[in-house]
Order: sequence, then C-alpha cells, then structure tokens
Amino acid sequence: MSAMVPIDPTRTVKTTTLRACKAAARPIVAITAYDTPSARIVDEAGVDVILVGDSLGMTVLGFDSTLPVTLEDMVRHTAAVVRGTKRALVVADMPFMSFQVTAEDALRAAGRLLAEGGAAAVKLEGGTHVAPTVSKLVQSGIPVMGHAGLTPQSVHQLGGYKTQARDAEAATVLLDDCAALEEAGAFALVLECIPAELAEMASEQLAIPTIGIGAGAGCDGQVQVLHDLLGLGGEFMPGHAKRYADVGALIHEAVAAYSDEVRDGGFPAEEQTTHMDPSELESVRSRQARRLGSLGHIGRTNRKA
Ligand code: KIV
Repeated sequence: MSAMVPIDPTRTVKTTTLRACKAAARPIVAITAYDTPSARIVDEAGVDVILVGDSLGMTVLGFDSTLPVTLEDMVRHTAAVVRGTKRALVVADMPFMSFQVTAEDALRAAGRLLAEGGAAAVKLEGGTHVAPTVSKLVQSGIPVMGHAGLTPQSVHQLGGYKTQARDAEAATVLLDDCAALEEAGAFALVLECIPAELAEMASEQLAIPTIGIGAGAGCDGQVQVLHDLLGLGGEFMPGHAKRYADVGALIHEAVAAYSDEVRDGGFPAEEQTTHMDPSELESVRSRQARRLGSLGHIGRTNRKA
C-alpha cells in the first residue's frame, strides 16, 4: 500500500526527494504536461514529476518528430506548466541543438528554462558524450536529468523509434553512459525503450533514480506521455503505453453535441444568456431611432450607390 502513496503529498517535490524515493523503494511517478490546465490536473492527481517534454512537438504542435521544437517553445510551455503546478517537480526538456554545439550554449539555454520558464531542472538526451555538458550545468547550479537509451532527437541516426541496446555490446555501452551521467552529477536518469533486464541492472548499479519509459518495471519510477494515456495521440499508440481514458472520444462527443445545439437553436439557452435592464434597452432604442432618423437616409443612399 505505501508504494502507492506519494512520498509526502503535502510537500513540494525537490530533486533530492527523488533520491529519497529510491532509498525508500517508493516508485516515482512522472508524466508529461505542456500547458496550465493539464499541469493543474496532473499535479492535483499527485504525480511527483511533471516533464515538459519536447514530445510537445508531436503531441501538441503536430510535427512528426521532436526536432523542430525550439527553445522559445520550451520556455513558453514550461512557464505555462509552472503556472499550473503547486507540488510536483517541473523538469524542462532541452530541445534539439540547444545543448549539442557548446556547453556554453547549453548553459545559456538551461538558464532560460529555469529563469524564464520557472523549471526546477532540465533534461537532456545523450550518454558519455554529453557528460561534460551535464557537469558544466550542474556546477552552475542547474539540476540535470539525463536521458539514455532511445533518444528521440537522434531518430534519424537510430533509424526510427526502436528499442535500443538489445545486444551485449550495446548494453555495455548503455551502462557506461548511465555511469558517466551519474558521475557528471545528473540527479536522475530517464531510460527510454531498452530491455527490462538492462534497465533493472542499471537501476541496481546507479545511486541516482532511474525513470523508465518502455524500460520495464525494474526502474525506480515511470514516465509516460499524457496524450498517450488519455487517448489524445490519434491512432498511433507506442507499445509501452496504456490508455487509461479515451478523452479524445469524450471531446468528440461534447463538440458534436455543441454543434448540434448551435444548429438546432438549443444553444445558447436562457441560462447562458444575459439581458439588458428594460429601461436601458428602451433608452438605447430611442437613441438609435433618432440616430437612424438623421443618418439612415444617407446610409441607404450610399448603399444604393
Ligand atoms: O519528450 C518527452 O516527453 C520525453 C519522455 C518521453 C521521456 O522525453
């Protein structure tokens, strides 16, 4: 039962809380959100971490990858999520090309996500090769969540959104990546689409918590994309996701009912209507009659011309 309860539902979640979760073997619950109303709902539902993922490029901006997402997009959506969040830790994704070129670029971009967006931490994709950048951010006081395994910003290099590290050699590289990220100071690590056995091994070897997506039940927590859980992602459903509600169908039904009522005159009804004070109405009618009396002739003449 205790594993079902957030570590302390009344206290705000800090990066250090996640370590305590791992120590207490309490699964960390993370989910994406991209705007104020959904952040408010998932926060009130008691999640520990809200990830403003660059998956927003696909879930809400309609792109077919995360690559077109800009730093401006991330700052804007992060600020919206922060405005709707009271308890959860808000982590903002660093978008494609905001951290790959130089560690200085990365520091400036991460700084904006914290200072302007209000995030408490950033997440960036990659293994050993990004460790020096992680280290630079951490030394500057910016908490970093790592992200290894399937890294969607490298989709063209990976040849699609496929499970990674399936053989012994790739699995060893992945474990080295995880160790390098921990060594660089990452406070937690997303493991995306890797075999469950490997994720479990990484979770055992690391002191920092692992948060899995498509990485089995052996991680210290789970993260999912909100739109997948709610049936808002269209036809495509990743194999690791589970649909907990069909909100898409509910929205369709509600909007169809609204359309029907507008067309048949059922909406707006008396309850949605505001009326004018009768004396004010009478006064505006007489004013209009006087105005139209003096202008109406000219107006009609102009229209004819
Ligand atoms: O962008 C995102 O939503 C993510 C999660 C899938 C981990 O990185």
